[in-house]
Amino acid sequence: MTAPTDAEQRPNVARMYDYYLGGCHNFAADRAAAEQILRIFPDTGIAAQANRHFLRRAVRHAAELGVRQFLDIGAGLPTQGGVHEIVRQVAPDSAVVYVDYDEVAVAHARRLLPVDRRITVVRGDLRRPDELLARPEVRAVLDFDRPVAVLLVAVLHFVTDAEQPWDAVARLREATVPGSPLVVSHLTLDGAPPLPVQQGQAVYRRSSAPLLPRPHAEVLRFLDGYDLVEPGLVRVADWRPDGEPQERVSHGYAGMGLRR
Ligand SMILES: C[S@@+](CC[C@H](N)C(=O)[O-])C[C@H]1O[C@@H](n2cnc3c(N)ncnc32)[C@H](O)[C@@H]1O
Repeated sequence: MTAPTDAEQRPNVARMYDYYLGGCHNFAADRAAAEQILRIFPDTGIAAQANRHFLRRAVRHAAELGVRQFLDIGAGLPTQGGVHEIVRQVAPDSAVVYVDYDEVAVAHARRLLPVDRRITVVRGDLRRPDELLARPEVRAVLDFDRPVAVLLVAVLHFVTDAEQPWDAVARLREATVPGSPLVVSHLTLDGAPPLPVQQGQAVYRRSSAPLLPRPHAEVLRFLDGYDLVEPGLVRVADWRPDGEPQERVSHGYAGMGLRR
């Protein structure tokens, strides 16, 4: 990558996650913060992989249910096995809109994604769903009169309670027709020892976004208005494992619902 700008001197959550996944779209400040996290939670890289595996299983399941449109919010940096690659193995004509509020993630995605009128990348903010839903680039690719799967994978834990993430998710639900899936994964502290958690949160407080793990009941509220797909909201690695080898490390909950 080219030399970082001033804004890029600050550890950035998208690029720290890229580092955990073994990617190369990160700067020294991102790597230093990610290394601090890895010293506190050595299995963070494995947990990040487990989250990507969940994304793959959930997207494939939605495609197998017949869903052909995907809105991936907080999509992050382009990593191997992007949503369009997964879904197009089932249905080559599927449409995918990638959204992230991070300028660098969006720039890389634009550069690396194929030129295709049914795939687009939008810089947008989950905390401003109406603005995002009104964007012509989104409307040009997604038809909201047909089911649209909304993916909120490892992103809601960067939105504080004061920023009303439950309201934002409800707005997205209202914009979609019945049968539309919502896919969620979310970091939790349930079962985690308190001291390392506090140390980890201190690292993220110095980054581009604070980290807000939530208990099961609060994550489940994001799926209000949806019928949960079996097995419900469970540990990431336990959501419909498909026999592919995976370590059973999960730092969060994962689930899928279908809009009533
Ligand atoms: C941990 S990464 C997850 C990437 C991908 N969804 C996955 O699970 O592999 C979180 C991403 O969410 C983005 N993000 C955080 N808050 C956001 C917001 N309010 N609106 C849009 N994107 C956001 C970050 O920039 C980052 O790229």
